[in-house]
Formats: sequence, C-alpha cells, structure tokens
Amino acid sequence: MSLICELSDLQRLYHKRVPKMFQGYCESGSWTQQTLTLNKSDFNQILFRQRVARDLEPRSLRSQLVGQDVKMPLALAPVGLLGMQHADGEILAAQAAEEFGIPFTLSTMSICSIETVAANTQKPFWFQLYVQKDREFTKKLIDRAKAAGCSALVLTLDLQMIGRRHADHRNGMTAPPRLTIPNIIDIARRPRWALDMLKTQNRQFGNIQGCATGVEDMNDLMKWTAGSFDTKLSWDDIRYFRDIWQGPLILKGIMEVEDAKECVKLGADAIVVSNHGGRQLDGTRSTISTLPEIVSAVGDQLEVWLDGGIRSGQDIIRAKALGAKGVMVGRPMVYGLGAMGKSGVSKMLQIFHEEAELTMAFIGHRDIHQINRDDIVFKRDAFA
Ligand code: FNR
Repeated sequence: MSLICELSDLQRLYHKRVPKMFQGYCESGSWTQQTLTLNKSDFNQILFRQRVARDLEPRSLRSQLVGQDVKMPLALAPVGLLGMQHADGEILAAQAAEEFGIPFTLSTMSICSIETVAANTQKPFWFQLYVQKDREFTKKLIDRAKAAGCSALVLTLDLQMIGRRHADHRNGMTAPPRLTIPNIIDIARRPRWALDMLKTQNRQFGNIQGCATGVEDMNDLMKWTAGSFDTKLSWDDIRYFRDIWQGPLILKGIMEVEDAKECVKLGADAIVVSNHGGRQLDGTRSTISTLPEIVSAVGDQLEVWLDGGIRSGQDIIRAKALGAKGVMVGRPMVYGLGAMGKSGVSKMLQIFHEEAELTMAFIGHRDIHQINRDDIVFKRDAFA
C-alpha cells in the first residue's frame, strides 16, 4: 500500500475505493460551491509566527469539550450515510474515535442505528438531532439516545430545508445505490466496497426506519425532508429540547452573533460556528472568518467551536488561535473511512494530532491552552 503521510493521501485512496455517487455526496457543496471553497481557502490567509529557544517538554493537546476529557480538541462531526461510504461506517468511525480518545457524533441520517452503534462501542458517543414536525418521533429519538447512553446532544439548526447540491441530482444519489448499468460498472471497479457491503445487515436508514419509508433517491429525500423536517422551528421549540435533555447541549449551524446570543439565553453548553460544510446556504462567509466576532460576543458564556474546511492539524491550531474551544471535522473522517475503514479514521486522527503538536511546538508552546491570537498574522497584514 502507498505511504499515507497526509490527508490528501487518504483522499486519493478514498477516490479509488468508494463509488462515485457517494464521493459526490461527500465532496460537493451547494449551488456554486463558493462557501465550500472559502471554508478551506480562508485558512490559508492565516500565517504562523515562528518562535525559537523555548522549552518544549512535555507537550500536550489534551483539552475538555463540554466537560469531557479529549486527547485533542476535536470531535467527529455528524455525517449522514456513513454506512454507505464503508459498510458499518458509523460503527467503525465510532470505534476509531473512542480508541483515540475524542468524541464521535452519530447523525440522525445514519445507516447504523443508535442501538447498533451502542452495542458495538464501549464508551458513550454523541447524538445529532434534526428536529422533525412529528414531535413524538423527535422525542422518541432523544429517548433512544438517552437509553443508549449518549453523552451529548448536538442539535443542528441549519437544515430546516435541504440545500441544493447539484452533484447529488446529477448522480441520482440513492441509498443503497440503484443498480443501473453505469452504477454496476462503477461498483464493479471497487470490489472491496461491494463485498463489505454485501456482508452487512446495515443498509437502510437505521434511525428513521419506518418513518422515511419510500425514500430511495435524492428527490425522495428532498420530498421527505420537506414533509418531515420542521420548517417552523423557533427558539421556543429549541428551549423545549433544552428542557428535556439534561446532558450537554451543543447547537450547530450558528453563523451570526445575534443567533449565538439566543443560544446563550437558552442555556446551550456549546455552539458550533458552521455552515454545514458549505452544503446549505451557498454564498455565506467562511466559518473561520466568522469565528472571531462570535467568540468576542459570547465566548465567555459558552464554548464556541468551529467546523468547515479543517484539513490538517495546522488548521486546528489556526482555529484555536482565533478563539475556538474545539473543532469538528466531517469530510476528513469520510476520506479516512472510505479509504481504509476504521484504521483510515485512526490514521487521519494520528496525522492531525502530529501536525497540530508539531505546529504548536514551532510557534513556541507546549500546551494547547497557551495558543492565542498573537501566534498568527493574516496574510494581507504580513507586509503592514
Ligand atoms: C454533513 N453534515 C451534517 N451535519 C449534520 O448535522 N447532520 C448530518 O447528517 C450531516 N451530514 C453530512 C453529510 C456529509 C457528506 C457532509 C460532508 C457533511 C455537516 C457536518 O456535520 C459538518 O458541519 C461539515 O462536514 C464540516 O465541514 P468539513 O469538515 O466537511 O469541511
């Protein structure tokens, strides 16, 4: 096997092993993909200040996220259909996360159910909720997460309606894939994916079974989402979830200070500055450029995290320097999972950890809590 040094090596393997339809689902953003691009490229505007002659022993990235000890301040983001990127994908990613010592977040739109993931892991994972009009069903999902021992609830607020992702429509995205001639040819070139998939029982949406009957392709999913997801969701509704979930509550999809202040008012433990990885409203600012104003408005009242565009351990340090308490990663996990299953996710985490630790040392720190705004300069100000 070729040497895996950085995320792009896993990404290359991912492209070889996973059917094109699911690559498109993972990698695309909405509309023109401007926000998807900005999420990544804006990290390149942040340059480090190199320091020398510092005592760099011992070094640690250890942190706490909503009161939970983590080996580095990173959690695996909720990603739908992981079980299509690799058979039993949700279980494998959860196992990799628990072995490494960081949280895994199970999406509402998962293939493996909450119960199946719980039965195959030792430590608690987090559950991500999409609020549906059927409040009884939504509450049942929370009850199932509680019964499975989930240790935090991530409520995603930026998907009351589903963003238009052209790649999914062009690819006729289905789960499981429909066996058209082009799909059969594509899957035949990726036999390992197909064989693993044949061996598993987990091929349907495990968390919304019975509810999303008839959902086969992207058009069905759009219709089901339009019919089921709550387009009238209000801050009062979210308060209801705060009341019935006693553990840590993380509100995801916050891009404006006014919304962040609402999250403080209703007693959230953390917010994730997120534009859903550029998959919902195209044309928003990048998350990294939005982060500082949100941190300065509410960072002393709840934990402010970021996701979107993190592609290396260096990006974790950049986000820390701009005030993020922690980060989530979506696509990097999918690249690792599709490339090599559980060991691919572990590899991605190891690479990010090494890159973050080395970068922290080069900027003169041995503890991640020492990283601050003085460690970076913006490219545009470099000649100021
Ligand atoms: C997502 N994301 C997401 N978020 C969520 O709350 N529930 C979900 O089911 C999904 N599903 C999903 C599928 C895929 C394929 C992707 C790429 C993303 C968004 C995700 O949690 C996170 O916000 C982004 O992935 C962060 O951006 P990066 O790390 O992918 O750049």
